[in-house]
Amino acid sequence: MTVMIIAIDGPAASGKGTLARRLAAYFGYHYLDTGLLYRAVARDCLELGHDLNDTRAVTTLACSLDPVRLDDAGLRAPGIGEAASIVAKIPEVRAALLEYQRSFANRLPGAILDGRDIGTVVCPDADAKIFVTASVEERAKRRFREYEAAGESPDMEKMLELIRARDARDAGRGAAPMRRAEDADLLDTTEMDIETAFDAAVGLIKRKIGQ
Ligand code: CDP
Repeated sequence: MTVMIIAIDGPAASGKGTLARRLAAYFGYHYLDTGLLYRAVARDCLELGHDLNDTRAVTTLACSLDPVRLDDAGLRAPGIGEAASIVAKIPEVRAALLEYQRSFANRLPGAILDGRDIGTVVCPDADAKIFVTASVEERAKRRFREYEAAGESPDMEKMLELIRARDARDAGRGAAPMRRAEDADLLDTTEMDIETAFDAAVGLIKRKIGQ
């Protein structure tokens, strides 16, 4: 039996996380939100008071990361994502996290990983790849609602600025920049609710894996 690997990539607040989790439940595959790995490194770094740009200190933390601690609800807190995208620029940090992601991807019967570089770097041979996106304005709205749900009073202009800055950092970095793999299907969810996006993604995956 061969392992089925599905790569879901896309920018911040594109809806890829919700989509990937639901797809994993639907297909009965393991699920890894790879953003949590970078978030955990950033959290450890902040907790210890290190500079997020301190390559040596951050790499040491990435090498000793315990993936079991990924359950920490605090990892999803607004703000940690920004810190995560700073440590994610460091090539040594990415290298330290690669093996865990690849071995996770090879669990039977299959795995769905979501992130920025799954289809391009982590699992270039994935059986199906989807690049999930949405307009900047729509993603800023979604982030706005997330901040509100977390009990904060966000500002729409600030959300737009945050999303634009994050896109620029994630797509502009030298190491494994966020980009659509040549063989990835594009799923633009700007006008889609989660149900519609889910149905579209299931269709794209089934076409690729021949179910
Ligand atoms: O949920 P959101 O899209 O805001 O972020 P996330 O998927 O949890 O990722 C947080 C940050 O980690 C991203 O902005 C990326 O810089 C980095 N990341 C990455 O570089 N590569 C991945 N495979 C996943 C996340």
